[in-house]
Amino acid sequence: MLRRSKVSLPHFSSGIFRCWGRDTFIALRGLMLVTGRYLEARNIILAFGCTLRHGLIPNLLGQGTHARFNCRDAVWWWLQCIQDYCRIVPNGTEILRCPVSRMFPTDDSPPQPEGSHDQPLYEVIQEAMQRHMQGIQFRERNAGPQIDRNMRDEGFNVTAGVDMETGFIYGGNRFNCGTWMDKMGESDRARNKGIPATPRDGSAVEIVGLCKSTVRWLNELSKNNTFPYSGVTVKRHGTEETITYDQWNRKIQAHFEKLFFVSENPADPNEKYPTLVHKRGIYKDSCGASSPWCDYQLRPNFTIAMVVAPEMFSPEKAWKALEIVEQKLLGPLGMKTLDPDDMVYCGVYDNALDNDNYNVAKGFNYHQGPEWLWPIGYFLRAKLYFAKLIGPEIYAKTVFLVKNVLSRHYVHLERSSWKGLPELTNENGQYCPFSCESQAWSIAVILEVLHDL
Ligand SMILES: *[C@@H]1O[C@H](CO)[C@@H](O)[C@H](O)[C@H]1NC(C)=O
Ligand SMILES: *[C@@H]1O[C@H](CO)[C@@H](O)[C@H](O)[C@H]1NC(C)=O
Ligand SMILES: *[C@@H]1O[C@H](CO)[C@@H](O)[C@H](O)[C@H]1NC(C)=O
Ligand SMILES: *[C@@H]1O[C@H](CO)[C@@H](O)[C@H](O)[C@H]1NC(C)=O
Repeated sequence: MLRRSKVSLPHFSSGIFRCWGRDTFIALRGLMLVTGRYLEARNIILAFGCTLRHGLIPNLLGQGTHARFNCRDAVWWWLQCIQDYCRIVPNGTEILRCPVSRMFPTDDSPPQPEGSHDQPLYEVIQEAMQRHMQGIQFRERNAGPQIDRNMRDEGFNVTAGVDMETGFIYGGNRFNCGTWMDKMGESDRARNKGIPATPRDGSAVEIVGLCKSTVRWLNELSKNNTFPYSGVTVKRHGTEETITYDQWNRKIQAHFEKLFFVSENPADPNEKYPTLVHKRGIYKDSCGASSPWCDYQLRPNFTIAMVVAPEMFSPEKAWKALEIVEQKLLGPLGMKTLDPDDMVYCGVYDNALDNDNYNVAKGFNYHQGPEWLWPIGYFLRAKLYFAKLIGPEIYAKTVFLVKNVLSRHYVHLERSSWKGLPELTNENGQYCPFSCESQAWSIAVILEVLHDL
């Protein structure tokens, strides 16, 4: 146990690496809402709300005062948790009027003392939405090796915005990694230093899903007067333009399958890069990436969108895509992060290895194969959701599959000295010595699957 503790758990339980915005809000529904720990859930939501800056929730919290706003997805996971809180907790919508003590009332304010700038939570939510529609563009404070020893200069420039045609959130560039797949290359020898393994710039599928879910929910809330704004107003070229939540919701709905689904038909007129298609009947991982190949890689992220915004998917197409995911990505405890048929797939993560291989040196393949646990919760919940729409026989079979998969997590928990589930495994469920032995979101998603069952 001591030996393991040196390489794993303490990495995420001490110092600045303790508290991540994204991880917190991926874990919150399973650990705090499904289990009835409502007061703690409320306090965590409000505390992170205090740190909003540039319309974003921090990636690394750093006690608020040293927060880094270098991720595009944490704010959407935070918004999803507020929605879940409102739905699950009795009288949950009361949280919208709770005061949030803003640490950074403007983008350039130094941290303000508690209580000096209080606002109701609904104002903070509206600001996040408004800022995205207006377009977010800034350079990280103290940019340089002092905050990130590997990042290249352009990587410190953070952008996010909304595509006016499709309503999709987009952002990033090829030198930063704004989503949970955030591995930055560190090897000089293999020349991957400063190059993100999975930049996922453009529109990442799970962020589009989380945004759709939020926009749909805010539209419902504003219709029954629980939320005072019916849309966002932006200034463009000197004129003001209002986009209602209803319009925004319709735009995403109208474009999602058209742009994300890889049709079985090779002559599909919506396909921008037909020569890059190598798996049909799946949903793309992103849309508009700087390396178009990346859009077409089979990864587990679209199952997240299926759970939070199932209305964007046709049930038959969704079901078939889930069958491909099951066949290609489902591992014993987690989901392969990349298609094993992909050229750069490598299912063993070794952060200590340094060699000349660009694709694996210094753990470059962290999200290019190894099996992460938290996406399995989304995969199983998406299976249960769409199976129910397909028919009772399929549903019964799916319940059987889900119980079978969960029995492996049960066995792991029984044997774990940490009584926890790991961050990831190597391929085919093999033990990964560089993985955290007990990760909050891994156990959280399993509780969510049990809740759905
Ligand atoms: C919910 O709010 C209503 C009206 O304010 C109140 O009567 C009721 O007791 C509340 N329920 C709970 C569970 O707090
Ligand atoms: C990054 O931002 C800085 C400061 O805003 C700007 O001077 C620089 O040109 C930007 N770099 C790129 C590649 O956009
Ligand atoms: C999809 O998930 C993988 C991990 O499985 C991650 O590395 C990648 O960045 C994700 N894709 C996007 C577009 O965020
Ligand atoms: C308003 O709509 C939201 C979202 O559908 C719901 O959670 C909430 O209970 C509704 N409130 C009222 C007062 O009807």
